[in-house]
Amino acid sequence: MTKLFHLDPLHIDPAAIETAAVALREGQTVAFPTETVYGLGGNALDPQAVKRIFAAKGRPADNPLIVHIASLDNLHNIVNSVPPIAEQLMRHFWPGPLTLVLPRAASIPNEVTAGLETVAVRMPDHPVALALIAASGVPVAAPSANRSGRPSPTRAEHVVEDLWGKVEVILDAGPCSVGVESTVLDVTCDPPMILRPGGVTKETIETALGVTIAVDPAIVTREQRQSCRGTAMQRPPGRGPAEGGTVPHQADRDFAPKGIDDETKNRGRRMAAPLQPENVPRSPGMKYTHYAPQAPMTLYVGPREAVVRAISERASAEQDAGRRVGVMLTSSVAFMPGDTVIVLTGSTAYSPQSTEEAEPCGSSCWLRRNPHLDWLQANDIHDPDAAYSPEDLRNIANGIYDALRRFDEEGVDLILAQGVPEAGLGQAIMNRLSKAAGGNVIKVDGP
Ligand code: TXA
Ligand code: MG
Repeated sequence: MTKLFHLDPLHIDPAAIETAAVALREGQTVAFPTETVYGLGGNALDPQAVKRIFAAKGRPADNPLIVHIASLDNLHNIVNSVPPIAEQLMRHFWPGPLTLVLPRAASIPNEVTAGLETVAVRMPDHPVALALIAASGVPVAAPSANRSGRPSPTRAEHVVEDLWGKVEVILDAGPCSVGVESTVLDVTCDPPMILRPGGVTKETIETALGVTIAVDPAIVTREQRQSCRGTAMQRPPGRGPAEGGTVPHQADRDFAPKGIDDETKNRGRRMAAPLQPENVPRSPGMKYTHYAPQAPMTLYVGPREAVVRAISERASAEQDAGRRVGVMLTSSVAFMPGDTVIVLTGSTAYSPQSTEEAEPCGSSCWLRRNPHLDWLQANDIHDPDAAYSPEDLRNIANGIYDALRRFDEEGVDLILAQGVPEAGLGQAIMNRLSKAAGGNVIKVDGP
């Protein structure tokens, strides 16, 4: 039986938090909101609870979980050292959408880390998440609260859709403000390396640190490829003397853990090898097809006007062949043929006359079925060269998962999506879109 509580994040009902906290302490699973996406939490120190998370999601056991904390005091249970750069990042970005990969403490079970010698940790910036973790008194392991492979949940309705009957408690506190997952940053190497782009941009981290950071070669397309070198670690502040002083980087030692299958062990070794293949992501989760809508998706990149024209031509051809087309656009004005389902992501400027004209789909996203030409006009793309502002990108990021789920509900036969430049939050957006497209990306030339 799943219990569902609706919470006002500004006036959190303590009874609901207590029920959820007790569930966590008893080894059950609780879905809760964070600023990025909804998470599916379990006690990170309880291997059985962690197994229940994997079972509810249908998640492969070799994909490790992020451990969520509400206070820095919880950190010593989870990691065995914190390099100075990580301390700096925690001060700057926590609570917030930055996950740090650190050397794990012995108390963290293999089930959480999938046998890796590192553990991913973050402090979410959401009052309900923080209240829940604090009340539970335990670190909370939580992946995104979707069935494995589906788009991540940015509203409790998405969690209900995917996990009703499979989890004990769902806390609904409305839509998530960021809408894409946290940035996963490996700080066991020098310079730190982004393993998954997310809510905090590379540029923002670099400004905060005053140094250039690396991006996992396996997740970049045009970035200069860099490698992750090991660095010496120090003990976290306020802890006893270090055992042996420093912890070598995982690449320097054989960490094949006991009690996991050979395939996982080999994968662990391969990921830790100094000369790893460029196409093996260091964050295990990044190798899976993710966020995938049911219909096949094609992502178009290039100059904005040319992209929209290419999408519109393809949409016409597909419709002529009898297929129902879903189109995901970021530009607010474009032409699409008759029976198209259009989702306009990130458009706060547009405001429809009626719900028949377009219906809201998330907070900055609009859905329109069978648009007429007066809604989307040919050759009238508004300022196609204008750069996306950080606010535009935040709005687009916020609408992606909602849009992907809407296409499923509409039952479209295929999806055509407009890409954005890969800078700032554009990196996370393009990472999610190209994964949703299963790597099916078409580059068009302009104008
Ligand atoms: O915003 C978020 O991060 C959300 C909310 C709920 O906090 N959580 C989330 O978790 O996105 P999940 O499990 O969907 O994604 C975690 C990612 C995966 O790609 C996983 O492989 C990676 O983090 N990860 C976890 N532990 C790791 C480790 N020790 N080393 C490298 N990557 C790790
Ligand atoms: Mg996920």
